[in-house]
Amino acid sequence: MNLTSLNTFGAEAEALHFFELYKAETYAELLKTHPQLMQDALIIGGGSNILFTNSEVSSVLKVSIPGITITETESDEVLVTAGAGVVWDELVQYCLSQNLCGIENLSLIPGCCGAAPMQNIGAYGVELVDVFEQLEAIDRSTGKISVFGKDACRFGYRTSVFKEELRDRFLIASITLRLSRVPHLNLAYGAIGTELTAMGISDPTPQDVAQAVIRIRQSKLPDWRKFGNAGSFFKNPVIPDAQFTEILSRYPNVPHYPAGRGFTKVPAGWLIEQCGLKGVREGRVGTWPKQALVIVNYEAGDGRQILAFARRVRDAVLDKFGIRLEPEVNLIGMKQADF
Ligand code: EPU
Repeated sequence: MNLTSLNTFGAEAEALHFFELYKAETYAELLKTHPQLMQDALIIGGGSNILFTNSEVSSVLKVSIPGITITETESDEVLVTAGAGVVWDELVQYCLSQNLCGIENLSLIPGCCGAAPMQNIGAYGVELVDVFEQLEAIDRSTGKISVFGKDACRFGYRTSVFKEELRDRFLIASITLRLSRVPHLNLAYGAIGTELTAMGISDPTPQDVAQAVIRIRQSKLPDWRKFGNAGSFFKNPVIPDAQFTEILSRYPNVPHYPAGRGFTKVPAGWLIEQCGLKGVREGRVGTWPKQALVIVNYEAGDGRQILAFARRVRDAVLDKFGIRLEPEVNLIGMKQADF
């Protein structure tokens, strides 16, 4: 099975065995018939946060569990459950059509619902954890389905227990979010206010906020259907304050955010831009001209070329700032630590 159209980077790769899961309960049956292939399988949803570093993958299980259900509560809040295979942005748009508020800032993020908790997706001042209620996950070695509440998921910046201690042990089957019928808008992220003003809106609805976010994203981020990419390639690094103060003395305008006692977060896109690597292109691969944190596969480059380019970007930032960028994208076929 060719995987090129199943990853938003459009990196060429081939799966020797390919399975698709439409119902959580079916996993246990697949486990009986193909125990080794199931346990070894690469689990994919929308393929929007992966980079194939080899051209061959032994076994792939694509999770395509459908369905959105809404459960009322006694308050203004509702519980929305979505199958892991539901496209995230379709969930966002559906909730907005039902006047459910809470995920409008997360409009247009590529990928499927099952991947959203893996890395605690976030954008424009909101993270999944802010609206998360629980999820159902399948134990990959037994097929047993269990429920994880918010604490059990151990969410952090672009991470969760499923990316750390329980990496590769569970497959997410569905997610449940707690949304509100009464709007509580999050407009803290400066660009949203600027965009709403440009749209001539002073008293925004959740739908207006979604529209503002969509406009910002479309102006800054490449559409993966035209230019293969996986969003931010690196995480924004969190550095000790002493190191930050030193950078600040050289670059008084460095953007930054507090990141807990003694630490500061610096945008990786800014660091890359300072290295003169914004909008550069080497062969088939490059950084996006409007957002240096996004690596683009311009012309069907394979994963190895993207990986080599990403390492060059990492090295440039390390040389200039002494900061080692870590990939935000999951590297398939190698250990994340070997990047
Ligand atoms: N910046 C530059 N040059 C660049 C890119 C950014 O100087 O080439 C500066 C910007 O001017 C701004 C700051 O860096 O002052 C932050 O930039 P931006 O608002 O674009 O956000 P980001 O930190 O680069 C993060 C997420 C994005 C998310 C945006 C908005 C990570 C790794 N990325 O990017 O998420 O959409 O914030 O909330 O945290 C993704 O995860 O794939 C993703 C796109």
